Amino acid sequence: MRLVVHRSQRDVAHAVAQRLVAELEGRPSLVLGLATGRTPIPIYQRLSALAGQGRVDFTRAATFNLDEFWRLPAEHPGSYRAFMARHLFGHVRIPPARIHFLDGMARDAAEECARYERAIAAAGGIDVQILGIGANGHIGFNEPAVALQARTHLATLKPQTRRANATFFGDDATAVPEQALSMGMATILQARSVVLIATGRGKGRAVERMVNGPLTTRLPASFLQVHHDVEVVLDEAAAERLTSAQRGRA
Ligand code: PGA
Repeated sequence: MRLVVHRSQRDVAHAVAQRLVAELEGRPSLVLGLATGRTPIPIYQRLSALAGQGRVDFTRAATFNLDEFWRLPAEHPGSYRAFMARHLFGHVRIPPARIHFLDGMARDAAEECARYERAIAAAGGIDVQILGIGANGHIGFNEPAVALQARTHLATLKPQTRRANATFFGDDATAVPEQALSMGMATILQARSVVLIATGRGKGRAVERMVNGPLTTRLPASFLQVHHDVEVVLDEAAAERLTSAQRGRA
């Protein structure tokens, strides 16, 4: 894992946005895996601003979002489709046919998950997967458990994860769906490169265990240690528990 520590959340956003701009310049048909949550919002804002200035071109790119709530209409403000429209897709030019989501309203979860795996394969696989990390070490909705799912699947959310998602559900964690469709661990680990972003002190412990701890299904992000191309981009608060050698700032 390559660790990069920036002074602030803003610097993290600028650095990751810049990397994506460079990746898109090198490969306009880039296949991006995208994450939702609080952490990537500043990156999407930055990319939206750059797109407005004509400094990044998404027109030939394709995107696959990591996850989506189960049985939540796409129009609901809490859906990840709505999140992405607000923060990125409403601001950059990307053909709708190249934007891929899991359908939380699909008739059959297993069929929908299999369809998504086929769509990723048909696109040639994911080139760059953006990831956040839960305070409990989850990636996507791969929550700590005795065993993890390899492929895209219907996942059950931990209460802590539902609380973290309550903003668009009237701050009521019980209104957050209990289940979501999520890429699995192997789906994520098959991305050619991974950029994991964590900001804020609340992520410090999960980051430290992801980087230094044993591989364990109790901290799903620890499996990223076996991937050959992972960049972990942190602000100082999220890097607090790492050694000073590991923190050596960007
Ligand atoms: P957050 O979520 O960016 O809202 O902290 C990250 C995650 O749970 O993966």
